[in-house]
Amino acid sequence: MVWPTSWQIPCHASGLVLYIDRLVFKLSYFPFRSGAGGWMYALVLECGRLRPGPAYRMITLSASGESPFIDFSNCRDNTLDSSSIRVLPDVITIEEEARLVAELEGNMRRRRYVANHWDSVIERYREVEKRTWIDPPNAKIAQRIKDVILQTLHKPLTTRFLPVHVIDLAEDGFIKPHVDSSKFSGGLVCGLSLCSSAIMQLKGDVEQGQNPDSIVRLLLRPRSLYILCGNARYRYAHEILATRPEGEERWVDGRRVERSRRLSLIFRDEREDQGKREEACETDI
Ligand code: OGA
Ligand code: MN
Repeated sequence: MVWPTSWQIPCHASGLVLYIDRLVFKLSYFPFRSGAGGWMYALVLECGRLRPGPAYRMITLSASGESPFIDFSNCRDNTLDSSSIRVLPDVITIEEEARLVAELEGNMRRRRYVANHWDSVIERYREVEKRTWIDPPNAKIAQRIKDVILQTLHKPLTTRFLPVHVIDLAEDGFIKPHVDSSKFSGGLVCGLSLCSSAIMQLKGDVEQGQNPDSIVRLLLRPRSLYILCGNARYRYAHEILATRPEGEERWVDGRRVERSRRLSLIFRDEREDQGKREEACETDI
């Protein structure tokens, strides 16, 4: 058999292209003339690496040290304790994620995404406060997440949490930099991400006298749990970056971070002196 050279490949060659991470596999199928003059068909498998085009500004997370999901390379703050930021991957299974999403879809169904307001911290979102779970396994998952948080930080398992705050961020939604109110919540802000990856950016909060050029980025994959405590919770503003501002793509470790609709379950501990004011927590967290 005569292996075709490139000039023999007709332009109507058809094929299948598969992208796996940044590897591209291309399977092409095309006819060519055999040495004996007849037609034969060839299947060619090509493999290569994708490179980001020059039109894209890259946001690169060069995670180093303890976690492959946290990038401290732009942190300009030696008072920030790296253990005050954690990302735990795969704290729930895909089945558990689907179960949580199914219940939350029911809660969100009648709500509309809040339209853009110039002064709002969150754009294009819906939210609910989850006090009880209808599906019993979901209640167990939520309890397990609380236990994981407390065990990770070596805190007493009796620590009380505020009702879970659920945010449904539309594909084009985002959360601007802010520091969570500490009116009712204590020193922990933790989030379980569902459905879509996202990048959380922490930036020194100017109002707390911090350097805004000190930046830490977290890659939040679906089913991962992030934990912010200490300075990361009180002195850094956190934000969830937008999907893809004009001409910009987000890459992490050579992989593109596609943001689509994302649900997050936010777990905040109760302020220690708030025990008696539990009712007040119902409306303001
Ligand atoms: C918030 C918040 C982040 C997230 O609700 O205050 O910062 O992961 N959410 O949704
Ligand atoms: Mn927040």
